[in-house]
Amino acid sequence: MTDNIFPVPAAAAAATRTTMAQYRERYAQSLADPDGFWREQVGRLDWLRAPTRMGDWSWDPVRIRWFEDGVLNASANCLDRQHPAAIAIIWEADDPAAASRRISYGELLADTCRMANALVALGVDKGDRVTIYMPMIPEAVVAMLACARIGAVHSVVFGGFSAEAIAGRLQDADSHFIITADEGRRAGKTVPLKATVDEALEKHEGVRVEAVLVVRHTGGKVAMHPERDHWWHELKPQLPETCTPQAMSAEDPLFILYTSGSTGKPKGVLHTTGGYLLWANLTFETVFDYRPGELFWCTADVGWVTGHSYIVYGPLSAGATVLMFEGVPSWPTTARFWQVIEKHKVEIFYTAPTALRAVMRDGDGPPGEHDLSSLRLLGTVGEPINPEAWNWYHRVIGKGALPIVDTWWQTETGGTLISPLPGATPMKPGSATLPFYGIEPALVDAEGIVLDRAEGEETSGNLVVLRSWPGQARTVFGDHERFTQTYFTTYRGKYFTGDGARQDKDGYWWITGRVDDVINVSGHRMGTAEVESALVAHKDVAEAAVVAFPHDIKGQGIYAYVTLNAGIETSDALLTELRATVRHEIGGIAVPDHLHVTPGLPKTRSGKIMRRILRKIAENDFAAMGDISTLADPSVVEALIEGRLNR
Ligand code: WT7
Repeated sequence: MTDNIFPVPAAAAAATRTTMAQYRERYAQSLADPDGFWREQVGRLDWLRAPTRMGDWSWDPVRIRWFEDGVLNASANCLDRQHPAAIAIIWEADDPAAASRRISYGELLADTCRMANALVALGVDKGDRVTIYMPMIPEAVVAMLACARIGAVHSVVFGGFSAEAIAGRLQDADSHFIITADEGRRAGKTVPLKATVDEALEKHEGVRVEAVLVVRHTGGKVAMHPERDHWWHELKPQLPETCTPQAMSAEDPLFILYTSGSTGKPKGVLHTTGGYLLWANLTFETVFDYRPGELFWCTADVGWVTGHSYIVYGPLSAGATVLMFEGVPSWPTTARFWQVIEKHKVEIFYTAPTALRAVMRDGDGPPGEHDLSSLRLLGTVGEPINPEAWNWYHRVIGKGALPIVDTWWQTETGGTLISPLPGATPMKPGSATLPFYGIEPALVDAEGIVLDRAEGEETSGNLVVLRSWPGQARTVFGDHERFTQTYFTTYRGKYFTGDGARQDKDGYWWITGRVDDVINVSGHRMGTAEVESALVAHKDVAEAAVVAFPHDIKGQGIYAYVTLNAGIETSDALLTELRATVRHEIGGIAVPDHLHVTPGLPKTRSGKIMRRILRKIAENDFAAMGDISTLADPSVVEALIEGRLNR
């Protein structure tokens, strides 16, 4: 296979602060002398006490520490040290006709201090977990930074998750405080937030919440429980606009973020203060080559790690101006992104392949009607980008002249691990290219043996990382054993990413997707086990098996096979109920695209479901079904093919 290579665009090459030779040299230094490399980087942050120790870690047993004797506060790094008159956030509403907001660093600091004081008054102590369930409004950032200011640990729950999902996360995090809003707005519709929080609290005995702080956003009517619920706009004027930042050890927790895996309930991935913040700051400035005064737009929601690292902690710790967008790419039209770029003169635009696929359906016309000349750099994240989407992004949005940084990373990595540097690295569409400073990726075979790549050859296998980096997650909240089991046991002493990858003859990395039972739906991780347990929560369902199939827009879609209890007949009404059950248990993003009711599932004689077969049928590729002789009842396969939904 010959790779399509795109050289670094001339303007980016001319202006770059890092050449390819410098990248290679710094990268080599970061591995050869990690202490020296990180000692040079710690000055990026303001420390109350500068760290003298750099990385101190082991992966067998798992104990990870960076900058351990350092003391700092993340909110102070994001706010107090920035110019108060500089703009921190430009907010664009869902409704194109609604006024946008411009919030300076000084205003953001004052609001953060007020909310920090509110949290203290409500009883939040250092180390307490505060759950944040917010729309994409600046107050979501204020809420996160207010927690960081007083040393509380935030746990942001994406606003699309259900009451059940909120309750599960509140319980797991042992969180007694919530910050939410009356409602959100997306694509012209209102999203009930406070009402969903109420539902989570009413139906779950085990959840004990002392206080709910409610931001008024849409002005929609919501129920307020006088003992428990407090309006932010009522408290705010009475609160002082200063608040001394808590002195935090570098290894004190900064946040928990729940993410799906191949088994069980979502895990509360825990990031700590010093290493995470340094990683977010360094990768932001380097990978996006950020220049003071530029407007950076990351289209992710703050409910995902991308929003944490590249809307909040990375850009704000670097004094950048971020655009924060409440809406969606295709409402009111698929020109919405391009209209916002033109309106605010965005320089750096970072989005997901799924969003590009959703808007490129309408062709080159919509972007052609907008002035995109402010753009200097493009980025993608969330899934491997298909060549069609890459080429369209490059040609139509970038006019063939802009670098595209394809950033590979995960909730657990805190920030980008593999990505081009825009002024240095020639691009190959679909490849995240080369590792960032300090990152040592490797490919292993099924036994965990590291596969060596001979010069000029290519290799593929499962993607592991061989040494720790500052932004690495430290544990799973409340379950260190699960952390060890999930990431460091498949290949003992190595960090297993869950992804498969290929390294090509030039050493470029190509992520091929998850090799575990995790589905990547529109760049969001969904555990098949979670969707299955949501389906079997319905009284009529006997068994469920969930697999991925290729989806034109989402990347992967969810295909669910369901068997019903004896005597139950399938019907449209039942299918509607099953969808509602998943929506109720998890949220809209987990609702299967296909629900295939079948009399039986293919099982081995020992009762194990053969997912390989289910995947083939869902992919509509059953010519080469492989060996089915080990099935307890091979006739099941014929019935499944007969009833397949994905023709
Ligand atoms: C999984 C992590 C990192 C923030 C968004 C998702 C996939 C992510 C890429 C990319 C190929 C990618 C991987 C990874 N992924 N970025 N540029 N190229 N695959 O965070 O929910 O923790 O999911 O997303 O499969 O393991 P996440």
